[in-house]
Amino acid sequence: MKLNLGERFIVNNPLRAFIQRRIEGPMLKRMAGLESYPLCLEIGCGGGVGAEIIVEQFGAQSVVATDVDTEQIERAKKNLKSKFKDKIKFRIADAMALDEPDNKFDAVFSFGVIHHMEDWRKAIKEISRVLKTGGELFFEEPLKNFTSFFIKGSLFSRIASHPEGGMFSYDEFRNGLKDAGIDIINLKRLGNIAIFGVGRKT
Ligand SMILES: C[S@@+](CC[C@H](N)C(=O)[O-])C[C@H]1O[C@@H](n2cnc3c(N)ncnc32)[C@H](O)[C@@H]1O
Repeated sequence: MKLNLGERFIVNNPLRAFIQRRIEGPMLKRMAGLESYPLCLEIGCGGGVGAEIIVEQFGAQSVVATDVDTEQIERAKKNLKSKFKDKIKFRIADAMALDEPDNKFDAVFSFGVIHHMEDWRKAIKEISRVLKTGGELFFEEPLKNFTSFFIKGSLFSRIASHPEGGMFSYDEFRNGLKDAGIDIINLKRLGNIAIFGVGRKT
């Protein structure tokens, strides 16, 4: 689901970029299971900071960075520094129906995106389909104890609106991944508020 005005401001913001570069990127890298990730996919790339992190911190040679929102893709293309132009390609794509072949990527990244899906299980199946066996999914997601305050139509949804189909508890998420053929290999959990981790396709 596309972002509303409030969340667009929260996401396309230098503070968000700082947190993503300095805290989230390094934390996820410390949880990585593989030595290298030559070919990566990012879903919901927003303004493009995540794709740069994937190159700089994870050593990717090539990143396909996707978002369902044309405006976000245009922003990401505009923001892209020339040193990344050979390695990062931006494309419009819905993470629930990826236009990519099976078993293609060494890693898929979701920096706060799976919880924005109208059907998060569908997205996870797609992610698993395009991952190579042994490939890894890096995720950071708020859990439904938090996102339920922002459900479409609620008071707080004026700040950031989220679809009901993107809500999950940690157990639901872990089991959903397992059903899609992905086992969590590393996890940091902020109580029932958020999870940060890595899953591996078996
Ligand atoms: C909370 S923002 C996160 C943006 C960026 N990854 C970051 O960490 O700053 C969620 C992003 O997911 C995108 N998105 C929402 N639904 C999507 C879908 N079905 N497929 C792909 N991207 C989607 C939104 O347009 C938005 O850019």
